[in-house]
Amino acid sequence: MCGIVGYTGPKEAYPIVITGLKRLEYRGYDSTGVALLNNGLKVYKKKGRVADLEESILGKDLHAHTGIGHTRWATHGEPSDTNAHPHVSTSGKLAMIHNGIIENYAQLKKELTNKGYTFKSETDTEVLLNFIEEIRKNNQCDLEEAVRVALKRVSGAYVILLVDEDNPDTIIAARKGSPLVIGVGKGEHFLGSDASPMLEYTKEVVYVNDYELAIVRPDELILKNLGNEKITPFVTKLDMELAAIEKGGYDHFMLKEIFEQPSTIHDCLRGRLDALAGTITMSGVENNIEHFKKAPRIIIIACGTSWHAGLVAEYIIEELCRIPVEVEYASEFRYRNPVINKGDIIIAISQSGETADTLVAIEKAKEQGAIIFGIVNVVGSSIARLSNGGAYTHAGMEIGVASTKAFTGQLAVLTMVALKIAREKGTISEERYRNLLLELQDVPEKVEALLKNADEIRLIAEKYKDAKDALFLGRGYNFPIALEGALKLKEISYIHAEGYPAAEMKHGPIALVDENLPVVFVATKDSYHEKIVSNIQEIKARKGMVIAIATEGDETIPGLADDVFFVPPADEIIAPMLSCIPLQLLSYYMGVAKGVDVDKPRNLAKSVTVE
Ligand code: G6P
Repeated sequence: MCGIVGYTGPKEAYPIVITGLKRLEYRGYDSTGVALLNNGLKVYKKKGRVADLEESILGKDLHAHTGIGHTRWATHGEPSDTNAHPHVSTSGKLAMIHNGIIENYAQLKKELTNKGYTFKSETDTEVLLNFIEEIRKNNQCDLEEAVRVALKRVSGAYVILLVDEDNPDTIIAARKGSPLVIGVGKGEHFLGSDASPMLEYTKEVVYVNDYELAIVRPDELILKNLGNEKITPFVTKLDMELAAIEKGGYDHFMLKEIFEQPSTIHDCLRGRLDALAGTITMSGVENNIEHFKKAPRIIIIACGTSWHAGLVAEYIIEELCRIPVEVEYASEFRYRNPVINKGDIIIAISQSGETADTLVAIEKAKEQGAIIFGIVNVVGSSIARLSNGGAYTHAGMEIGVASTKAFTGQLAVLTMVALKIAREKGTISEERYRNLLLELQDVPEKVEALLKNADEIRLIAEKYKDAKDALFLGRGYNFPIALEGALKLKEISYIHAEGYPAAEMKHGPIALVDENLPVVFVATKDSYHEKIVSNIQEIKARKGMVIAIATEGDETIPGLADDVFFVPPADEIIAPMLSCIPLQLLSYYMGVAKGVDVDKPRNLAKSVTVE
């Protein structure tokens, strides 16, 4: 978590850094700070959002051509002005920002305390910074060498940006485990946790790798490994426009991203799915097709919403490909001693491609010989680069903290992967295969149609916004959608919600049902339809309030439910891509009705780069 920005060049650094921080706020918004180099080092920092800092330093001398900035998601030490980054070293000459966690900071702190160092903040960052300063003093070396020596002693994850008032046109950066992008301009360089701070200035970027150190000056970018050997920077072209990170007339990014889904799903299918020819082109699958065909097992690893996409995929892959699938929380998988057999395939799902737990879990599986297939949204991200093969979701930049369009992109990719393997394995009939291709092709249009009725969901949301709890129930392919609906409601409206398999509710959650409890049923027409209708009746018999997501033309559910939202008919394998959308809207409108900052709900961050 945490966002970092840096600039060195002929332009004014402050406006670039502050605008960059606003774009990176999705990574954390507990505190903000900048360090500027102009006749010495100036550091301004404050608890709260970027706008709070901006306001508090109005009128100050912010002129500088080199600057760094940080937006924090607190790990060590509560959100406060003192714990905000940048931190300044004991000599007052160095300032540093950091994204990640220094796991052995307590040991380093002890060593420094014994040497007489004192600390202003409770952060691991201030410890690392003074550790670097101490090495520079002790070894009589330059800053670059001191950083190298220090980082060899550090365990944990980091991206650091470091400036020195004696070298005011240089930023030293290093990375292990957290993302770092360097934008290459004409006589200037930009640094960021992602490319958004540099979009309007350059399309040429370098993705820095783990254990690399960058010495960045206006007209020079030197990359080295921790052994002090030079590495040639690999410059790639960015395929992203400024419009992708603007709200485009919507009140919130989350709403914009929900409404983008007809086009993002279309982009995901484009060039891959040809329903008429009956083909799916996915080189990541094709290159590994023999492994997929023979795979004794597929293990899906993910976190959060991506984990829910994995659960839907479990149903689809087992049904179509007849391969056993296990879906694992990355955070649990990495600390267990999981059994990975020869030929097992790991599918890692991640919007950001940077989630620390997912990253480490797949590193661990890779060490044990597993093949890693990554399903990632952010091009060039760490998980994408670590995977042996994979497929991008092509949902475009997702800024709202709650994942929406990335989720439907993941479902679209996973469905195509399953169909492709099933066809190759011969576990699907030609007729079903062709039908599902046609169904997939129609998804963007169906999503567009259901979004036209978004206002109906807004009215439902306003009706139930004062609920204290909510239950989300579904069966089969729609069970993970119930989980996802509950997660969305929790994070966006702060209403406590639980997702459950509809049949399982009799083993506990039904005790909660009374006339105040809204129960959301994801009850589209599928092979479980009669069963879920019975479950609705069971809730109604106990006076619960039922909100149902049903298929257009369903004549039973409207007679039972208090409120119904209809989605277009679809095969049960395809239905989750439709039924999840009213639930995204429900949480969005409930959050708005309750006055929650839906794009930046409390305590959350979009990219969880600490474990
Ligand atoms: C955070 C985000 C979620 C996301 C999860 C996994 O919790 O708020 O929206 O689903 O991380 O992130 P990933 O980038 O790996 O999909």
